[in-house]
Amino acid sequence: MTRTVVITGANRGIGLEFARQYAAEGWRVYATCRQPERAMELSQLAAANPGLAVHPLDVSNAMQIRAFAAVLGNEPVDLLINNAGTYGPDGVRFGNTDETGWIDNFRTNVIGPMKMMEALADNVAASELRLIASLSSKMGSMADNGSGGAYIYRSGKAALNAVMKSAAIDLAPRGITAVVLHPGWVRTAMGGPNGEIDADTSARCMRELLARVTPDDAGSFFDIDGSIIPW
Ligand SMILES: NC(=O)c1ccc[n+]([C@@H]2O[C@H](COP(=O)([O-])OP(=O)(O)OC[C@H]3O[C@@H](n4cnc5c(N)ncnc54)[C@H](OP(=O)(O)O)[C@@H]3O)[C@@H](O)[C@H]2O)c1
Repeated sequence: MTRTVVITGANRGIGLEFARQYAAEGWRVYATCRQPERAMELSQLAAANPGLAVHPLDVSNAMQIRAFAAVLGNEPVDLLINNAGTYGPDGVRFGNTDETGWIDNFRTNVIGPMKMMEALADNVAASELRLIASLSSKMGSMADNGSGGAYIYRSGKAALNAVMKSAAIDLAPRGITAVVLHPGWVRTAMGGPNGEIDADTSARCMRELLARVTPDDAGSFFDIDGSIIPW
């Protein structure tokens, strides 16, 4: 049976790798991104894979989320990957935190995944796998915070973790398993050139992890190696 995945932020970085790998495995891929007309690699991938379709979607835009959900209609979605994310403004330190940048970060990193889950919950519930995964970060873990700073990114990912924990509880009765993933420190535009792994490896490890997830894992915060990250 053909599986279906919806990926946000699929035009570059980890999201593009997810799209590439799921398409290679024969999944139907809804690869969404803010500016399809500028997503050259993704367009090439779509041209080579009839099962991969590119759709415009800014996750901070509620109207675009609703429009995308309307495109899906009643189609089952086995896996929703809330991958899109932003670090927020650079150079923010204690004493100069930026309110506008903070709110923008929350729109994309926290409210976006929530609105995606609300919009697509029926599609996921109608599928075989019934999985939702959101890409968070160890930087959202209180227990892991030994270096301070990064107020905007850390608080956004911590808030996303809280959202996912509640959604995991609320969606479990519908057979949906919602989990949180840390993708590792990945060499992308966000992770920078010193990251420990490339996007290919990160996406592959997370796919393997997602293939092993069971309903008992709902609400878990997984590291790339499958271990649990403390909140
Ligand atoms: N790289 C790491 O080391 C690392 C570590 C921990 C967690 N993560 C998380 O992993 C996820 C993917 O990160 P990455 O390293 O692949 O980052 P990336 O290379 O910077 O890519 C970010 C992606 O998110 C998209 N995006 C940003 N805001 C969006 C919005 N409002 N609507 C839709 N798409 C939006 C970007 O699209 P545009 O091209 O339009 O900007 C881009 O496709 C993020 O959630 C990130 O926080 C990454």
